[in-house]
Amino acid sequence: MTLDVVPVELGSRSYEVRIGPGLIDAAGAQILPLLRRRKVAVVTDETVARLHLDRLLAALAAEGIEASALTLPAGESTKGWAEFARTTEWLLEQKIERRDMVVAFGGGVIGDLVGFAAAVLRRGVRFVQIPTTLLSQVDSSVGGKTGINTAQGKNLVGAFHQPTLVLADIDVLGSLPGRDFLAGYGEVVKYGLLGDATFFDWLESNASAMAGDAGLRQYAVRRSVEMKAGIVSRDETEEGERALLNLGHTFCHALEKATGYSDRLLHGEGVAIGCALAFELSQRLGLCAQEAPSRVRAHLRAMGCKVDLKDIPGDLPDAETLLALMGQDKKVIDGQLRFILARGIGEAFVASDVPGDVVKNLLAEALAG
Ligand SMILES: NC(=O)c1ccc[n+]([C@@H]2O[C@H](COP(=O)([O-])OP(=O)(O)OC[C@H]3O[C@@H](n4cnc5c(N)ncnc54)[C@H](O)[C@@H]3O)[C@@H](O)[C@H]2O)c1
Ligand SMILES: [Zn+2]
Repeated sequence: MTLDVVPVELGSRSYEVRIGPGLIDAAGAQILPLLRRRKVAVVTDETVARLHLDRLLAALAAEGIEASALTLPAGESTKGWAEFARTTEWLLEQKIERRDMVVAFGGGVIGDLVGFAAAVLRRGVRFVQIPTTLLSQVDSSVGGKTGINTAQGKNLVGAFHQPTLVLADIDVLGSLPGRDFLAGYGEVVKYGLLGDATFFDWLESNASAMAGDAGLRQYAVRRSVEMKAGIVSRDETEEGERALLNLGHTFCHALEKATGYSDRLLHGEGVAIGCALAFELSQRLGLCAQEAPSRVRAHLRAMGCKVDLKDIPGDLPDAETLLALMGQDKKVIDGQLRFILARGIGEAFVASDVPGDVVKNLLAEALAG
């Protein structure tokens, strides 16, 4: 199996996403050409450290790269002020300078937190993303959005700071719990649904074998990253097209809030449910044929993803409350609800004039179903 290289074209801040097997063991050789001296600081979480940190440190040492490592607790609550402060101060204690490199080794929580720390440390140091979850490989490690959560909400404090390199090791996904793998799959499906019907066809035929087949996994990651890289290079700061990446996310964010960002609903699970609802909404608004939402639902079901509101354990608030939670989404512009809708599979667009009562009826029926 060969390495896939997907460029993210952003002028002087362009970088590569390298996707393939064995990249953790090759990390020293991959990173060395970017270094101005043989020194990096690695930040990871406890789970990833237990499973994979020794190999990464050995790979760096093999190239004579001096590395120190900070291990943070695993989980979303790490992505806040406390661990952010600890991380930046630790990096300063390691005497990381403007010319040095920080390595974010973990899922989206580590990538977002460490990317933000790198963005502000000494007004910006370079960093490498080594994403270890499917979600972080296909989504959060690419595109330069970094940040943390606060008491007011998720991802409300942050910065755009592009990595210098992304190393997506396909093998590392082997240790990912099935539920986390499927959650990441919610974002993979999203790419087909928003802009590539041929990819969605491919997923319908191949995705069920993906967890056990590294070649299929690599293709799915590569195609997802290609789509994200293309969108990001055309619209880095989300003035327009990048908003399409939020397909399913308006529903998802309301559901995440309603479930308290708890174990009841992982982000990618909410994305899958949200994509199903977005297609259903598109059909009700007469934008696409019934076949489209039916296919979306059938595929997500076949994969074992959460699809319906009843797949979320515990009680949910009523439709009115869910609608109000959508209104609080940070993607709201001038009080108007912005949705990503679709004219068919692979044909998403931004709609800013969606009637609230249609959404409310859809949610009420979904809650009753
Ligand atoms: N910056 C962006 O553009 C962007 C996009 C999407 C999501 N996000 C953010 O990403 C975060 C979610 O990322 P995530 O789903 O990767 O969560 P995560 O980082 O919490 O990882 C999920 C769990 O898997 C464990 N894990 C990681 N790699 C593993 C491996 N190889 N084997 C076994 N266990 C492993 C982690 O320790 C953690 O417990 C959220 O905070 C979300 O806001 C950011
Ligand atoms: Zn997402």
